[in-house]
Amino acid sequence: MDLQKDIQKILISEEELAAIVKRLAEEIDRDYAGKKLLLVGILKGSVVFMGDLMKHLKTPLQIDFMKVSSYGAGTRSSGYVKITLDLLRDDLESTDILIVEDIIDSGKTLSALTKMLDARGARSVRTCTLLDKPSRREVPFTPDYIGAEIPDEFVVGYGLDYDEDYRMLPFVGVLKEEIYRKKS
Ligand code: IMP
Ligand code: MG
Repeated sequence: MDLQKDIQKILISEEELAAIVKRLAEEIDRDYAGKKLLLVGILKGSVVFMGDLMKHLKTPLQIDFMKVSSYGAGTRSSGYVKITLDLLRDDLESTDILIVEDIIDSGKTLSALTKMLDARGARSVRTCTLLDKPSRREVPFTPDYIGAEIPDEFVVGYGLDYDEDYRMLPFVGVLKEEIYRKKS
């Protein structure tokens, strides 16, 4: 199965991704100097990005993961997300959380998650996304760290999937339209 043939074009190459990750790690290290971080990766899309990012960070850190699914799709924008894997920690008051996400689209996932972790009493909650599609926002949300802004195109690779495939591609590419036309 040759997944590369389903890619219309490479949007961000492996080399560009490496430079983006390095730049983000420098920004984060500078901002968190003297602190300890908890990286919270949002499964599954963030795993490749978070793995690379944590290797470049010099700030001492721990990692955790959450899994969320948006629900109410196709209905009115509710902004609710369902937590399907939660953080199991009782030390949030002394924890500086950096949520790591693959891509922000409507903004609903990160907006809801940030508010929730804030409400639970985390010392600080910031967000780092590899990709941002600002033109797709349905709720106002500005991440603290952004790898790259991209146009409104469906992208896969470097952790991002279409129907669970393509996550292992080492670049971020635009999926050919015929692929989702065929499947859906
Ligand atoms: P939102 O910001 O709450 O709409 O959710 C963002 C989530 O939608 C991401 O974590 C991805 O799982 C998914 N998503 C949005 N755009 C894309 C894309 O272009 N490729 C793959 N997944 C996407
Ligand atoms: Mg996701």
